[in-house]
Amino acid sequence: MSTNYAGKVAVVTGGGRGFGKAFSQALADGGASVYLVDLDSEVAEAAAAQIGANAFGIAADVTDEARMQAVCEEIAQAHGGIDILINNAGLHSHEYSRPLAEMGLQKVRRLFDVNVMGTVACTLIAAPYMAGRDGASVVNIASAAAFSGGGYGTSKLAVIGLTMTFARELAADGIRVNAIAPGVILTDTIRSEMDPGTLGRIKSMQFLSQDGEEQDIVDAMLFLTGPTAKFITGETLRVTGGFAAGI
Ligand SMILES: NC(=O)c1ccc[n+]([C@@H]2O[C@H](COP(=O)([O-])OP(=O)(O)OC[C@H]3O[C@@H](n4cnc5c(N)ncnc54)[C@H](O)[C@@H]3O)[C@@H](O)[C@H]2O)c1
Repeated sequence: MSTNYAGKVAVVTGGGRGFGKAFSQALADGGASVYLVDLDSEVAEAAAAQIGANAFGIAADVTDEARMQAVCEEIAQAHGGIDILINNAGLHSHEYSRPLAEMGLQKVRRLFDVNVMGTVACTLIAAPYMAGRDGASVVNIASAAAFSGGGYGTSKLAVIGLTMTFARELAADGIRVNAIAPGVILTDTIRSEMDPGTLGRIKSMQFLSQDGEEQDIVDAMLFLTGPTAKFITGETLRVTGGFAAGI
């Protein structure tokens, strides 16, 4: 799928690796100026350097409102505004996918801070710079886990709720807000952390037998941020090979 993003300005949180890096690459390939905002400054800068001259790595924590405000302000000043926000930064490693009692309050709080409040903060901060821009679009990265409970799943269910809420609240500013709920996709984090047994069990619950690929999620993002989705807002697109439909 190829969409023309020439002249567009995109902010991708968690842009240093995994989906975030793949989203950034695709948007930059389409001609956008892309800002990879990541907690890990080294990976953000390395990813931006690899992507090309129209990609920029920025160190920031999505839960740090003052820092995110400064980042968005700087980007908007340089380009006149922001067109696309991808709320992708999220905690989903094994450490944050355990039962609540095992995780303990401190980790649960951090999980919800990053996955939920990070999405709220980045959207509220970026929205004034996106208002009235042609094709302005927010895409939140939820998860198929949202439909099966658990601490992590509950944080992603909140992301789906926020998608509907922001779609309603930002429509008057011409900003569409949608979400993608990916199934298990073999990003580095999943590859290094998920044991083959769990992976096999999840795959056996898919309708389609093949592995989901990063490109499947990138294509969903390109669709939702592109002009063919101009009448779509408040929706969550499940990209799971049927996994989410089966639960
Ligand atoms: N990979 C999957 O199978 C899968 C499935 C469903 C949903 N997701 C969701 O997709 C998103 C990306 O997944 P991934 O596998 O690419 O993740 P990843 O762990 O490979 O990369 C996430 C990136 O986000 C950054 N990050 C973490 N906390 C941050 C913060 N507070 N502020 C700024 N940056 C921060 C990390 O440094 C990292 O570079 C996450 O929200 C995840 O929950 C992933």
